[in-house]
Amino acid sequence: MTFPSKLETDRLFVRPWRSDDIDDLYELCSDAAVMRYFAQVYDRGETELFLEKLLDRQSRNGFCFDPVFEKATGAFVGFVGLNRPGLSKPLPFDPCVEIGWRLHKRYWGKGYASEAAREWLRFGFEILKLDEIVAFTIPENIPSQNVMKRIGMSHDPQGDFKHPSLPNDHPMAMHVLYRLTASDWLVSKTHAL
Ligand SMILES: CC(C)(COP(=O)(O)OP(=O)(O)OC[C@H]1O[C@@H](n2cnc3c(N)ncnc32)[C@H](O)[C@@H]1OP(=O)(O)O)[C@@H](O)C(=O)NCCC(=O)NCCS
Repeated sequence: MTFPSKLETDRLFVRPWRSDDIDDLYELCSDAAVMRYFAQVYDRGETELFLEKLLDRQSRNGFCFDPVFEKATGAFVGFVGLNRPGLSKPLPFDPCVEIGWRLHKRYWGKGYASEAAREWLRFGFEILKLDEIVAFTIPENIPSQNVMKRIGMSHDPQGDFKHPSLPNDHPMAMHVLYRLTASDWLVSKTHAL
């Protein structure tokens, strides 16, 4: 599948991952504030493996949590996008397409994550014709859940789950699940007009 050729918003644009994005990605993933709600920050080697995974999924699916840039400056803001999780242990709601985000701290509080995410929802529902997009995080990650709510997703408490990649008793194992169906997205989009 080819990458969406034109994905942009008023203030941002998205392009496919490249192997020379490594320094930007490392700066992002080694920042303790950005990674506060993850099990660990990444060292250089872990970031290289992560980028390999992003590039591999991008070539197979056409997208994978793609890099986002500020139009005004061309600066790397972080990543926002869709992903088909390919975990060795499946998620309870697989197969699914998730939406996710990770921005440099200097770009928080500007509406960038929600702005890019709304464009990815449009791409997911209009172009990929998905029936549903999900998102998940740990209960403590309120900023991320606020983005989910802002873009029209709803918490599905019955879907909350322990992440299969973490040990059952890990303090970050528990995750909350948010969902948005294509029909609910269409209704919210119509009401926004
Ligand atoms: C999750 C994360 C992307 C949220 O970032 P964020 O800046 O709070 O979210 P948005 O980009 O949607 O911005 C919304 C904020 O910008 C403000 N804002 C300022 N100017 C704005 C504008 N022009 N348009 C819209 N919102 C604007 C909004 O009021 C809102 O602030 P508030 O939360 O204080 O009400 C960010 O905290 C992050 O990258 N965290 C680390 C990684 C992470 O945890 N990822 C999620 C893993 S599941």
